[in-house]
Amino acid sequence: MIIAIDGPAGTGKSTVAKGVAKKLGFTYFDTGAMYRSAAWWLNNQGIDLEDADLVVREIPKFAYEIKTEADGGKKYFAGGVDVSHAIRTPEISTLASKIATYPDVRKALVKIQRAYAQSVDAVCEGRDMGTVVFPQAEVKIYLMASPETRAERRYRELLMKFPDASDTFSYEQVLNDVRQRDHQDMTRSVSPLKQAPDAVLIDTSDLTATQVIEKIAAIAQSKKKRTAMRCSYGFVLALARLYLKLFFRLKIYGVRHFRPGSAIIAANHASYLDPPVVSVSCPEEVHFLAKESLFKAPLFGWLIRYLNSHPVSRETADASTFKLIIGLLKSGHKVILFPEGGRTKDGSLQPIERGLPFLMMKAKCRIQPVYVKGTWDAWPPGKNLPKLFGKITCVFGSPIEWEDFEYFDKRDAEQRIMDRMGESLRALKQWLEDGANGDPP
Ligand code: C5P
Repeated sequence: MIIAIDGPAGTGKSTVAKGVAKKLGFTYFDTGAMYRSAAWWLNNQGIDLEDADLVVREIPKFAYEIKTEADGGKKYFAGGVDVSHAIRTPEISTLASKIATYPDVRKALVKIQRAYAQSVDAVCEGRDMGTVVFPQAEVKIYLMASPETRAERRYRELLMKFPDASDTFSYEQVLNDVRQRDHQDMTRSVSPLKQAPDAVLIDTSDLTATQVIEKIAAIAQSKKKRTAMRCSYGFVLALARLYLKLFFRLKIYGVRHFRPGSAIIAANHASYLDPPVVSVSCPEEVHFLAKESLFKAPLFGWLIRYLNSHPVSRETADASTFKLIIGLLKSGHKVILFPEGGRTKDGSLQPIERGLPFLMMKAKCRIQPVYVKGTWDAWPPGKNLPKLFGKITCVFGSPIEWEDFEYFDKRDAEQRIMDRMGESLRALKQWLEDGANGDPP
């Protein structure tokens, strides 16, 4: 995993990146130190850093090495010389920012940066980590803080690092440098400093370093968990599909009615088998809700846990359940719902309840109707386990669009949506009974 941390000078990037790396056991990579080392090395050779052609000609000779000490600290070597301390002066800050505007310098250094972070878990800090160097980074963070706060931090840092030279810099000077460097970093033509669209913005002005570290570590951990869940989802879905195909000869019709984006996958309800059957039949990842008690069932509980299921308790249902569903739909997911409210007692279709139109209008999403046949026989009510064999069919009908009801008054729209849903289920059932010819309605 790569955690890319970008942001202007003085936002606490280095402290935070080091802290996150330590907390998660990742490698820490300070790319600013690389620009600084290159600037120090060029300057030490008497090269005029304003002379872009000369700098670009010399940069391929830049030999850079990072050594990790026993306590985890880093030492930076430019042309074999330990420059760890020397690169932290205000003068080198300005020179590093200067050479960082040359496209060929960036090209050369980015190559080394990518090679360095290859196949390791790393926290990489800089200005273009999330936008240019590691656009595929799993976690992207953009740190910011006011120029005054950042100058104050930098000034205190310089006093600590160079106590003997405290009369050579002032707070005002540091603030000026910070502003100038911001301007140069943000307005350069190649890889300017900016927030990647998928980066999480953290304002560090009123946060301690520990608080920022905790925040980023939590983001990384939840990302890791979600990635693991996604792999498990694919695996369990494939297993469930195989089981339903082999033992229940699962047949699926009307998949071409699927559209991208959020939708309520609304199915008739006959059995506990319905959610996994509809999940397996959908051509893309879907979510569903299940009674808390079902998660305790042997094997079945394990199966639904990995299929994007969300437990709901009978007592706290309604308000919190509606909130959960609307949240999922608004963030672009597809959610399986059973608008008849509960399971059928005799296998026949039941009336549609008001919850369906309410959710559709709140989330402004379409309904994807599905008729499921055979689950009532496969796992009838009152039985603890499904039968060993059976025949199950899943038929997707044409979507019902919320825009069709947008201009009706609320009550009227609700009734019309319920009527349309009921008609759709009856039509799909009829289509199947008539021999499943052509496309489902
Ligand atoms: O992060 P630090 O202040 O040590 O970086 C020094 C300078 O190096 C920055 O002002 C910036 O101009 C440049 N830099 C960059 N891209 C990076 C890291 C640093 O342009 N990834």
